[in-house]
Amino acid sequence: MTKESGTVGQAHPAGKPMPDVVVLRAKGRRHVQRYRAGDTLLETSRRAGVPIPSNCRLGDCGTCVVRLLRGQVIMRRNMALTDEDIAAGLVLGCQSIPVSAECEVEYG
Ligand code: FES
Repeated sequence: MTKESGTVGQAHPAGKPMPDVVVLRAKGRRHVQRYRAGDTLLETSRRAGVPIPSNCRLGDCGTCVVRLLRGQVIMRRNMALTDEDIAAGLVLGCQSIPVSAECEVEYG
């Protein structure tokens, strides 16, 4: 079995809430995917069949940037986004773990 670098098999952050589902808005369509504890937004989007574009999967390149429309996430690592990007609602899909009861993102 191949593991996705730095993301698969990690536990959900202790004591943090998580959504039942993640809403993914991609290319004008809305997809609802059940959330699996500890998964990133990228992993969730792949399970939904609407993968967020990605490259390094390490938080370095920024290819996986998405806009957070609702909810909160924790980014495990971020070497691509500025504080201004984050303040504008952008997060890295490959590093973001939802930590709120609701989560909705937009990309593509
Ligand atoms: S794929 Fe490179 S930062 Fe997410």
